[in-house]
Amino acid sequence: MSKPAYVIDEMISAKSIAARIEELARDISSEFEDTDKLVVVGLLRGSFVFIADLVRELDLPIEVDFIEASSYGDGMESTREVRILKDLRGQIEGRDVLVVEDIVDTGHTLSHVTEYLGTRHPARLRTIALLDKPARREVDFKADWTGFEIPDEFVVGYGIDYAQRNRNLGFIGKVRFVGKDG
Ligand code: IMP
Ligand code: MG
Repeated sequence: MSKPAYVIDEMISAKSIAARIEELARDISSEFEDTDKLVVVGLLRGSFVFIADLVRELDLPIEVDFIEASSYGDGMESTREVRILKDLRGQIEGRDVLVVEDIVDTGHTLSHVTEYLGTRHPARLRTIALLDKPARREVDFKADWTGFEIPDEFVVGYGIDYAQRNRNLGFIGKVRFVGKDG
């Protein structure tokens, strides 16, 4: 197979991500300090690394569940029409819920998923996104917690893919396309 015609430039180091997650976890732990058990819901697949690191910093009783929504496919553009591909296993009525997402881009995915989960009447429903690209927003949505605001760049790593590649990078990098000779 030929090499992909792009390179990845580091944007956020593994160390910076870890430090930011500690801060976020402190905030979330104090917001939910009175919970009997927080349901931490990861949006598949991009959030799987983030949720793994985040839950280990939470000073709370938790359980973990996952939901999957349709997204980009293998391209770089949002499909805008969001469908639920895999639903939660557990009940959330009357429960405290934190939805964990990798990136808020146009905002369609997380706004749709929170609306959908809201119809099940959780006690508290909050959202966290590791990354936010506000310049790309198409619907009015802001996560309750954001790790880092980033410019309008296509990023990979730390769970986030480009055509299913690069999820296993420890840092967040931006994709830079290069010509045949570059
Ligand atoms: P939204 O519905 O446009 O907010 O898109 C959210 C989803 O698009 C995220 O969960 C990601 O899976 C994907 N996405 C957005 N930006 C990027 C990116 O820069 N790299 C890889 N995936 C992205
Ligand atoms: Mg995603």
